[in-house]
Amino acid sequence: MPAETQVRARLVLIGAPGAGKTRLGKRIARLLETEFIDTDKVIVAEHGAISEIFDRLGEAHFRGLERDVVARSLQRPAVVALGGGAVLDPGTQAVLAGARVAQLTVSAEAVEKRIGGGKRPLLKDGIEAWVRLVDGRRETYDRLATRSWDTSGVPLDDLAAEIADWVRHDSDAESPDDTTHAQKEQAQ
Ligand code: S3P
Repeated sequence: MPAETQVRARLVLIGAPGAGKTRLGKRIARLLETEFIDTDKVIVAEHGAISEIFDRLGEAHFRGLERDVVARSLQRPAVVALGGGAVLDPGTQAVLAGARVAQLTVSAEAVEKRIGGGKRPLLKDGIEAWVRLVDGRRETYDRLATRSWDTSGVPLDDLAAEIADWVRHDSDAESPDDTTHAQKEQAQ
């Protein structure tokens, strides 16, 4: 199913937990006057707390639910923030191939102040766990991203404005035919 999914999303945000996908995504969506979707939130609304899904059914089951939510979300003309590990799933990767994808990065120092709380099951062991997680995913994030921005110590409103500008200009540059962003990048 995912490979044939029609992508209408204006922007997809990927990146490590704590990189600011949700906070920036909300701002960017406001600037673009479009809907914001946080796929973690949709999963919680439909299936309950993420930590419970991990505990009761395991990560693989969670990734399957996530794949379905991501595929549906990308059919809307929205700004869509993905959970940090969504990119690990091959089906989700296939959906992203047709999308405009911004990667958000953040330093371990900056993220240490942001994460915590215990809502993120893969991060309950602290910053060392975060560093291991991100190191293991770096190549995947880089490969799937159209562009990257670092959020460490940068005012989020400035960054949101910059990314929203990029989306506007990039959309304007797209030809009126149905060629996807990814297809055009490949053709260059
Ligand atoms: C996860 C990140 C979380 C959430 C889940 C798994 C991950 O989202 O999807 O806890 O594997 O990195 P955030 O990136 O919004 O924290």
